[in-house]
Amino acid sequence: PSRIIIDCDPGVDDAVAILLAFAAPEAVKVEAITTVIGNVMLDKTTANALRVRDLAGRADIPVYAGCPRPIMAPIERKNSVHGGDGLGDIDLPAPVTATESEHAVDAIIRIVRDNPGQITLCPVGPMTNIALALIKAPDIIPLIPEIVFMGGAAFCPGNSSPAAEFNFMIDPHAAQIMLTAGIPLTMFGLDVTAQALITRPWMDAVEAASGAVGQAAVAMLRAYGHGDPCLHDPCVIAHLIDPTLFEGVDAWVEVETTAPLARGQSVAAVAPRHRPGHEPNCRVITGLDAPRLFTLLAERLISLG
Ligand code: BDR
Ligand code: CA
Repeated sequence: PSRIIIDCDPGVDDAVAILLAFAAPEAVKVEAITTVIGNVMLDKTTANALRVRDLAGRADIPVYAGCPRPIMAPIERKNSVHGGDGLGDIDLPAPVTATESEHAVDAIIRIVRDNPGQITLCPVGPMTNIALALIKAPDIIPLIPEIVFMGGAAFCPGNSSPAAEFNFMIDPHAAQIMLTAGIPLTMFGLDVTAQALITRPWMDAVEAASGAVGQAAVAMLRAYGHGDPCLHDPCVIAHLIDPTLFEGVDAWVEVETTAPLARGQSVAAVAPRHRPGHEPNCRVITGLDAPRLFTLLAERLISLG
């Protein structure tokens, strides 16, 4: 299985991504969950990671709290599609377990150093923790085989602004540091995740066949589906389970960090004339087999009981 660190800001779709990873032990081994500011403030994203871990009975997976603010960008928006508590306000119980004392950035560095070439990073929130780990410990850069991330919108409009996707908008500097680090990248931006549209019949079917875990996931998704009915973050995990669900193109991708109207915009160069001196840094995923993705996700959520 792929050994991964899920770096996240739960977030309803982050929560579903975590549950999907737990439900695919043959393909994915979650080494740690690290949290960051994003959909809600850090205290809530961290509590939510613990609540999801508790829901699934996975106290064996360590959770590390990370950065409470972006590197440079102002904290000026929160994401209302996830409800006030970040998990759809479905009254999921408060955490009964606690985080580790180590900071997420240090945990990422330590786990990568201890397992050279083995740990795939999966950021599905703002990339602040990832960027700081790469800055604090550049020796880990050649030790990371791949970063598979949710963020950006290479060839389509944004969702936080006309130009920018939410994770890139919240911390464009962190995204830029990650993109230009020289680590092999697979990008799940809105190009593909906007095609992963949740439907009511799908939720009904999963709910009817599930135990407590799948039913809680559907309850969250019902609360979330109104504002943004796309399963963004689970696509990252689904790719690790079955890469044949997706297709993409190679591109050189960077992020605009300063222009007022375009802050957080991803700019993807496919044609060699648009990227002089640059080989592609990123596999940009652009297409998915939605029926097969939702079948996979249904089976796995139901399997959690
Ligand atoms: C991203 O922003 C958040 O709302 C989701 O969790 C996802 O990571 C989509 O733009
Ligand atoms: Ca997220």
